[in-house]
Amino acid sequence: MDEQKNIRELFEEQVKASLPMLQQYEKLMAYYRCAMMEVETKLNVLNEEFSLRFDRNPINSIRVRLKKPKSIKEKLERMGLAVSLENIEEGLHDVAGVRVVCSFPEDVYMLADALLKQDDITLLERKDYIKKPKANGYRSLHLIITVPIFLAHEKRIMKVEIQLRTIAMDMWASLEHQLRYKKDFDFTDAMARELQHCADLSAELDDRMDALRELVQIDADSQED
Ligand code: GTP
Ligand code: MG
Repeated sequence: MDEQKNIRELFEEQVKASLPMLQQYEKLMAYYRCAMMEVETKLNVLNEEFSLRFDRNPINSIRVRLKKPKSIKEKLERMGLAVSLENIEEGLHDVAGVRVVCSFPEDVYMLADALLKQDDITLLERKDYIKKPKANGYRSLHLIITVPIFLAHEKRIMKVEIQLRTIAMDMWASLEHQLRYKKDFDFTDAMARELQHCADLSAELDDRMDALRELVQIDADSQED
């Protein structure tokens, strides 16, 4: 009986101790959501301006996602870090993720440059897997940036990971992800080579569509003269 009481007390103590931590965690996640909203709005503004100027949309779609508690915990553990709010903010750069699917490769760079030029955005890291694809064929432009969010009584600087890619790059990445995470299945070397080949085909598709885009643009420009 006594033992049971002890366990209950211990549990209650733990719950009390973890409640403020849980509230702090929820608050931090809300800040990350605000940071994603800021970035998404900035991108939508650029899309709007660009479509007025050039009569087409550089952005096909924007997806935002907040890293799940389970993934946050697993990643911190993989990094050998304790699960704490400080380590989440300091150690992880992809709690807030924004994926921008663009129409053409040219749009990826135009949007990235226009965003990074803004004086409240700071670039922490840039990985260009379009110019230098991963060994498996993966292509995308990855940016880790910080963006300020303005709250009633404070200003917080938050990290956001932005992945920019074309429709073709997105299609390849989505399908590769589905195949790679198929349960109880080992990928053979031949299958990996086939995936690389598909990545080459998607890169060729991007190049050819980009060439078409240039032709259409030149034609439209000459008609305006
Ligand atoms: P992480 O620990 O996964 O964040 O790796 P990293 O910090 O070295 O970042 P990297 O820029 O290599 O990749 C980050 C994210 O890009 C991943 O979480 C995926 O969303 C995406 N990504 C990277 N490589 C691949 C790939 O080979 N296939 C697919 N489908 N997505 C990828
Ligand atoms: Mg990452």
